[in-house]
Amino acid sequence: MSPTQVVRGLDLLLTMDPTLGEGPLGRLEHAAVALDERGVCWIGSDDQAPTAPVVVQARGQIGLPLLVDSHTHSVWAGSRADEWERRLSGISYTEILEAGGGIRSTVRHTRQASLDELVELCTARLAPMVARGVGAMEIKSGYGLDAHTERTMLQAAGLAGQRVGMTVVRTFLGAHCVPSDCRDDPDGYVDDVVGPQLAACADVADFVDVYVDRGAFTVDQGRRVLQKGIAAGLRPRIHAEQVTYTGAARMAAELGAVSADHLEQIDEDGIAAMAKAGTIGVMLPGAQLYLNDPSPPVPMLREAGVRMAVATDLNPGSSPVDNLWTCATLACVRMGLSVEEALLGITAVGADVLARPDLGRLRVGSAGLVLARPRAGEPCVPGALLQHLGGPSVSVIRPG
Ligand code: NIG
Ligand code: FE
Repeated sequence: MSPTQVVRGLDLLLTMDPTLGEGPLGRLEHAAVALDERGVCWIGSDDQAPTAPVVVQARGQIGLPLLVDSHTHSVWAGSRADEWERRLSGISYTEILEAGGGIRSTVRHTRQASLDELVELCTARLAPMVARGVGAMEIKSGYGLDAHTERTMLQAAGLAGQRVGMTVVRTFLGAHCVPSDCRDDPDGYVDDVVGPQLAACADVADFVDVYVDRGAFTVDQGRRVLQKGIAAGLRPRIHAEQVTYTGAARMAAELGAVSADHLEQIDEDGIAAMAKAGTIGVMLPGAQLYLNDPSPPVPMLREAGVRMAVATDLNPGSSPVDNLWTCATLACVRMGLSVEEALLGITAVGADVLARPDLGRLRVGSAGLVLARPRAGEPCVPGALLQHLGGPSVSVIRPG
């Protein structure tokens, strides 16, 4: 180890690894972190810190691992600002979708965009998220709904991640919505998803996802999509129990889904199946807020032992929210997560959703760390990171 920089005097370091520090957040007080050209090479007490050519003084700040946003739709073209205004006057998300708007409107614009345009748009969305400390993100397809555009979206996601230095994990979501021209034959559309679309996307995706709901896909169609995705080497996850209860979370858990996301309408059976399978519940408080949905039953999920991640669900319609800190705060205020649960949800548990236990914990080998400064006058305690809706002020330390 020959450190190139050392971060000294951290009031608090939250490693998010209980084996490295105290409690579930793996806390270390008066800590220091050293980095070499490759990443974090030493973590420990400030009074034992190694020397390095560059010293960053971090008094008054809290250190954390790079954040993980485990559910986003960050590649799209077009805008739904006009539709949002109509929703304010009382027209529902589902009504707009059924009338050819919503996801279908974004599909029309995304199909017309080139790979370069999608990379530009996605890069511009990712850059401020990187600046707020997000180091890894899941990005879904699902606004192409044809083999060519679904693949282009996933390629754009990978290229945008490279441009901003973000780890991007990709999910094939051809079964996001039945396109307008297939509405008389949704099963025929599922044939296209599990046939040409999956064949075009399997080598540029890590996960397969499906949106099961009224106005989207049925549980049986969802099962078919996930089974075919698994057979193509993808790990399953699902959008489940968002607007209506369907039993999709239980179905996905029984297929070994890594996560079931949304869950506003989940019941006891679904929760029991998720607990049994170790399926993580992904809380999406941006969509809950914008759609004015009820909260998922967090006390029941907690009681059953279902772990919870928190993500932005960044998309142009139901969750135009790119601030993961804000989502963590909303998960506390509107869903009842504790500060510990929400912080783990945007770090270690988010990483586990992506099947990347090397992310979301601050360890030797991590690619960097986040320095978070609570608002003026606030102490360096975990609660001060989330109490303010806009989050702390953040700087990101990377090797070099
Ligand atoms: O996660 N639930 C469906 N899919 C997205 C919405 C995407 C959109 O409105 O464009 C979601 O909320
Ligand atoms: Fe989503």
